[in-house]
Amino acid sequence: MRNLLDPTDLTVAEIDEIMNLALDIIAHREKYSEVCKGKKLATLFYEPSTRTRLSFTAAMMELGGNVLGFSDANSSSVSKGETVADTVRVISQFADIIAMRHPKEGAPLVATQYATIPVINAGDGGHSHPTQTMTDLLTIRREKHRFDHLTVGLCGDLKYGRTVHSLIKALGRYEGVRFVLIAPEELKLPDYIKKDVCDKNGLSYEEVSTLEEAMPKLDVLYMTRVQKERFEDLAQYERLKDSFILDEAKMALGKKDMIVLHPLPRVNEITYGVDKDPRAAYFRQVENGKFVRMALIYTLLRWKEQGKESTANAQTQCVVGPSCAHARCITLEEPVEHLYYKESNGSCRCIYCETPMGEK
Ligand code: NCD
Repeated sequence: MRNLLDPTDLTVAEIDEIMNLALDIIAHREKYSEVCKGKKLATLFYEPSTRTRLSFTAAMMELGGNVLGFSDANSSSVSKGETVADTVRVISQFADIIAMRHPKEGAPLVATQYATIPVINAGDGGHSHPTQTMTDLLTIRREKHRFDHLTVGLCGDLKYGRTVHSLIKALGRYEGVRFVLIAPEELKLPDYIKKDVCDKNGLSYEEVSTLEEAMPKLDVLYMTRVQKERFEDLAQYERLKDSFILDEAKMALGKKDMIVLHPLPRVNEITYGVDKDPRAAYFRQVENGKFVRMALIYTLLRWKEQGKESTANAQTQCVVGPSCAHARCITLEEPVEHLYYKESNGSCRCIYCETPMGEK
């Protein structure tokens, strides 16, 4: 059975298939208005969300299906101490597909080990957010008409920003994509992504310290919010939150056909003056999120009926190891084995949060 935990669970061809379906849905809305009639989506949101949860809900409703779930872990049995494993075993009896958001990294992977219906990761801690990436990709496809040979600037919180991690993994599979990383020292891209994703796949990236320096090179600028909720030290958040602010003066340095994306919510990293610039694509991006989720839900349900298995991500060997040292890893809470991917160079990464063995 197919799930979506990480954008690379889909092959490049499958991403294309889902993008094409989303474009067909946009062009022929009525054709799809009953394709999920009688089906139910369960939205299990253990962490706050506006866009993602409502976008999943609107998507399922526009496909003619129904939605159930919770948007606050305190109103579910989690507050009584129920594990993700037990919750999804129960929900599998009620629904046909699950969208899960969780503050712990790897929680949706645990869910797939117990659910008997497809699971979609709607954001797990600072780790991954594949449906935001599908949204970003559909926006790039509609605005730039290609994924290859793009120079993509990623700005803001590259350490905790799960949307950035997923976008790099997805875009890094296309030819000639270059990344320009713009982040304060404390919020730089995690090493595992630099080494295991960029270096391993020969992706070119450079790190620059100002937006001004990056602007003239970019085809796409991906702005992000500093992720307050992931900081252990709030004083550090206060110090870093205003590191990079995109305003009209900086926009003037960008190419005429550059686009600006942002997964939203924005705090203050893009001034309101930028919104009226036609290159500001972040509100168009929100609408694309609904269409791509319609395409994804419909596809995963069809693949389940067809018994289609994954051909992507033939992962490296897994080994059992000690408890993961990363504080936000789901394995610290759930009754699961501590498994690690073993790389060809002998290094091991937790299969749930992808943190290297022994690292915090
Ligand atoms: C993002 C998320 O939740 O990771 N938001 C979203 O899903 N649209 C980005 C963020 O919260 O900063």
